Amino acid sequence: MQKKLNNILNKTNNYLYRYFLNQKNTELIKPMLYGLLPGGKKVRSKILFDVGLIFNVDKRKILQVAAAVECIHAYSLIHDDLPCMDNDILRRGKLTTHKKFSESTAILAGNSLLTIAFQILSQKAFDINEKKKIKLINLLSESAGHTGIAGGQFLDLSFEKIKKNKRQIIDMQIKKTGKLFSFCCVAPIIMSGKTKYIGKFDKIGNEIGLLFQIADDLIDLRGKTSKVGKKTRKDLKMGKATLISLLGADNTIKYTNILKEKIFKRLGVFGKKADDLKETINYILSRTK
Ligand code: IPE
Ligand code: IPE
Ligand code: MG
Ligand code: MG
Ligand code: MG
Repeated sequence: MQKKLNNILNKTNNYLYRYFLNQKNTELIKPMLYGLLPGGKKVRSKILFDVGLIFNVDKRKILQVAAAVECIHAYSLIHDDLPCMDNDILRRGKLTTHKKFSESTAILAGNSLLTIAFQILSQKAFDINEKKKIKLINLLSESAGHTGIAGGQFLDLSFEKIKKNKRQIIDMQIKKTGKLFSFCCVAPIIMSGKTKYIGKFDKIGNEIGLLFQIADDLIDLRGKTSKVGKKTRKDLKMGKATLISLLGADNTIKYTNILKEKIFKRLGVFGKKADDLKETINYILSRTK
């Protein structure tokens, strides 16, 4: 699994690096690349390739979508770390972008990473049917904006130090993290044209994202800052509403195992073709950073 993930990590980083080399050189390129390139696991890209494999999508085209997704993800992390949000100074083992540069630079580099994602998907060199292209751009904007990451981040912050129920926490986590994973599960299907599977994979994607966020919360609880590359044991201190704070760690782990089995069952019809995706889901739950 780690080898496959590293392969995707290298491919995605290389693509992004080349893409940025062809951009006009501006002052924001440096902070953008600082927040984007080194250190990230590229799990969302891996999901895109895994689902692409199930639906026989051209890997070179998946790579371009992965590059766009990683730009949006990097933007969300840069803004998540800002003093007005989680106020963190360490990310991917380095100073956060606002600490390394400045707050205003981090905000603007984040904005630019968000918008460059749509530049990547709308470019001529992303050679797919125009209708499919528009559908991808439309869905990615939904995943990033008020119905997705931004909306979920709003809820995450407004839930701090307030007791929330299970449904409210799950809804918030699906928005802030699940929607981008859902995009990664649905995008290859849009590209393949096999639209009858969209609903099923939208749901699976939300749930994989939820599992991913729960694993992140467990790592915050038990991981070591030096290994994880970001400050751990913060969620409790900040009063973050998580399933762990509501149900306790043991019950939360039970919940993830039940959800995982449900997803695996629904993937059953795809047989061996879904093995890579299942492997990634197992990795998401067992990872320690
Ligand atoms: C961290 O995401 C933010 C969450 C949604 C939990 P990742 O754990 O994917 O971050 P990187 O890209 O590997 O640093
Ligand atoms: C962030 O969740 C989710 C995003 C969409 C950025 P966290 O705030 O838990 O992510 P980390 O732990 O800082 O990476
Ligand atoms: Mg946060
Ligand atoms: Mg955070
Ligand atoms: Mg976290």
